[in-house]
Amino acid sequence: MADPFLWGTATAAHQVEGGNIHNDWWRFEQEPGRIAGGDRSGAAADHWNRVAHDVGLMTALGANAYRFSVEWSRVEPTEGRWDDAAWDHYVDEVAQLRAAGVVPMATLLHFTLPAWLADRGGLLATDFPDVFARFAAEAATRLSDVRWWVTINEPNVVMVLGYVEGVFPPAVRDPRLAVRAAVAQLRGHGAASVAVRRVLPDARIGLAHHLADLQPKNPANPVDRLVTGQSAQLFNWAFQDAVTHGRIRLRTAGFPSVDVEAPELLGSTDFFGLNYYNRYLISFAPRTPAKVAWEYGDGPKTDMGYEVYPAGFERVLRAAWERYRLPVVVTENGVADDSEWVRPAALKWHVEAMRAAMAAGVPVLGYFYWSLLDNFEWAEGYAKRFGLYRVDYATQERHPTAACELFRAYATGQA
Ligand code: FCB
Repeated sequence: MADPFLWGTATAAHQVEGGNIHNDWWRFEQEPGRIAGGDRSGAAADHWNRVAHDVGLMTALGANAYRFSVEWSRVEPTEGRWDDAAWDHYVDEVAQLRAAGVVPMATLLHFTLPAWLADRGGLLATDFPDVFARFAAEAATRLSDVRWWVTINEPNVVMVLGYVEGVFPPAVRDPRLAVRAAVAQLRGHGAASVAVRRVLPDARIGLAHHLADLQPKNPANPVDRLVTGQSAQLFNWAFQDAVTHGRIRLRTAGFPSVDVEAPELLGSTDFFGLNYYNRYLISFAPRTPAKVAWEYGDGPKTDMGYEVYPAGFERVLRAAWERYRLPVVVTENGVADDSEWVRPAALKWHVEAMRAAMAAGVPVLGYFYWSLLDNFEWAEGYAKRFGLYRVDYATQERHPTAACELFRAYATGQA
C-alpha cells in the first residue's frame, strides 16, 4: 500500500527548544547588533520542556508527520562525548510522536554547529565531514525508529548568509570561503548519508533545499536573463546537481570555480526536500559589488517582506521534478504573519499551487508547514511569527491561529 501523504509541521531545535547554549548561534546572539531588536534565543518556545504538550497540538491539527532537528551541540556538548540524557530526550520525543500516529522526520544539521567545532573552523574544519558522519551514525543508531532523514537544511542559505552576506555565523564575506563552505556541506551530506544508510538501510534521506522562484526583472533584457540563470544555478540547483552527477561543479561569476569528483554523493538522496517561501526579481547591477540585485516582487507581503507568490511554488515544484525525477517532500512552506490575516489565505493558495503541480505529474509525498509554533527566527529574532500556534513568550502559552482549522481540514482529508 502506498504511504499516506505526510501532512506535518516543521521546527528546528535552536528555534524552539530554548537553552541551546553550546552552539555557534548562542554565541553569535550575544554580540551586539547581530539579531534584530537585540533578541536572543534564550528560552525560545521552551519546546524542550513541552514536547508532550506540543505533540498534543499536532494531534489537534490532525497532522500525521513532524519535522524536527536534533541539536548536535546538546548530544555532543564536548567533542567526542555523547550526552546520554540528551539523546534519551530525542528517543522519548520520537516515541511520543509515534504513539500519537505522527511520522518523525529528523534533520541532522539545521544551521547550528557545536561551539567546539565552530572554534576550529566549523564547516571549513578539514574533518567536518567525518565528525558530522559520526554524529549521523549515532543519531541513526539511537533514533532507529526514524525513517525520514534530512542531512542538512538549506546549504545554499548557509553559504549565502554565512559566507557572502555575513549575517549568519560565521559572519564572513568572502566568495572563496563561500565556495569552500558549499563543498564542505556536500562532503558532509555525502558522508552522513552513507553513515545513516549503513545503520538504517531503509532510511529515506534528502537535503532540504531552499528554492526561490527566480525571474529576470526585465525579461526582455538578455543580461538580466543571463544573471538570473547563473543565480538559479548557484542558489537553487548546484547542490542537488552535485548529488546527481557525483561531481561538484560551481561556476558563477564572482566566485572561484570548482570542479571536483564526489562519487560518494551518487545515490545519497531518496527524495528532494523543498523549502519554498517566495520569488525574487533578478537584475544585472554593475555598480554593486555583487553585480546582481535580488528584489522582491510587488505582490502582497508577509512580515518578512517576502512576497506571497504561490505561482512560484508550482514553478519550483515542477522544475525540481523535471530536473531530478526524485519524489519531492515540501520540507517547509509558511509565512510570518503577526496579523493572522495572511496565513489562512497563503496556506490555501500554496496548497492549491502544490496540488496543481501534483496534477501535472509531480510526485509530492508530503507537506510540512513552517512552523508548528512561533519561534526564534534567526537574525530576525522573535518579531517574525511563523507559527500555526501563536506563542505568548511571557507565559509560553500556545494559542491556535486562524489557519489551524484549514490545516486540519487538509490533514484530515476534509479539504
Ligand atoms: C528557512 C529556515 C527555517 C526558518 C524559515 C522561515 O529558511 O530553514 O529555519 O527560519 O526559513
